[in-house]
Amino acid sequence: MSTPAVPTVKLANGASIPRLGLGTWPMSDDQAEVAVAQAVEAGYRLVDTAYAYGNEDGVGRGLRASGVPREELFVTTKLNGEWHGYQAAQEAFQASAGRLGLDYVDLYLIHWPLPSRDRFVDAWKGLVKLLEDGRVRAIGLSNFKPAHIDRVLAETGVVPDVNQIELNPTVTRNATRAYNTEHGIVTQSWSPIGRGGALLAEPVITDLGERYGKTPAQIVLRWHMELGLITVPKSADPDRMRANLDIFDFALTADEVGAISGLDQGEAAATDSDVFGH
Ligand SMILES: NC(=O)c1ccc[n+]([C@@H]2O[C@H](COP(=O)([O-])OP(=O)(O)OC[C@H]3O[C@@H](n4cnc5c(N)ncnc54)[C@H](OP(=O)(O)O)[C@@H]3O)[C@@H](O)[C@H]2O)c1
Repeated sequence: MSTPAVPTVKLANGASIPRLGLGTWPMSDDQAEVAVAQAVEAGYRLVDTAYAYGNEDGVGRGLRASGVPREELFVTTKLNGEWHGYQAAQEAFQASAGRLGLDYVDLYLIHWPLPSRDRFVDAWKGLVKLLEDGRVRAIGLSNFKPAHIDRVLAETGVVPDVNQIELNPTVTRNATRAYNTEHGIVTQSWSPIGRGGALLAEPVITDLGERYGKTPAQIVLRWHMELGLITVPKSADPDRMRANLDIFDFALTADEVGAISGLDQGEAAATDSDVFGH
């Protein structure tokens, strides 16, 4: 199977990110080492990890084992809640970069806003410093709602490159997506195929799979592309990794995209980041 190259999108602070990459939760270090090397071999250039996944070491080993030059790779990791602070965020970044074995990271995200602690603006200032110092190519947020981003913008004026949020046809996140777009923030979907569960058996998805000769996961990933999203499906299986990347040779019509979006269960079905986070 020959897989077309993954297109990239330009981010607010100047970097370019592949529109599709590999998620690595919940892989162990050893699983991530193997999967990341296999994914890069299959054509992936973006890998998504986090301090909280406990696999930054393994991701770094897999990237080195791939033999692909560093500048062709795009690595995302995330700041955990105990380091929400200006200095603390920079120190946590240094530790993550060390585990990854990288002298810079492409994208650093605040993993969750944790609004009850009210420290995310200070953390954001730490990420802005890392960007200014050239330690990261892009900075962003994860699981931030419009009200949280309003504060980031009002108090720093620095536009986040990315907001990575839970998003798939059952949780379409219309309000947050529209807000991100309006502010020049690229929306990145997590759990893009609904963790491989019931979503992939929905008739609207399986019927389109038959129409296009594609798997249900490929139909759902193409839906993300049609909506202008970027995403990081996780797979530890080389065949599924390759298939998940093989979505750039067909397109869904606007009606088909609308029919898939009809699976939306509303904002209440999404993880509530005013309540949950780490
Ligand atoms: N920012 C955040 O708070 C946050 C939260 C959750 C996740 N994430 C990131 O987003 C990534 C993706 O989200 P996710 O892992 O929750 O869910 P996902 O990517 O929607 O689904 C992954 C699951 O689907 C299976 N799968 C993969 N490809 C498949 C295919 N073609 N057909 C059928 N099943 C398939 C995988 O199993 P196999 O491995 O066996 O293929 C795995 O069990 C994570 O890995 C992580 O990097 C971020």
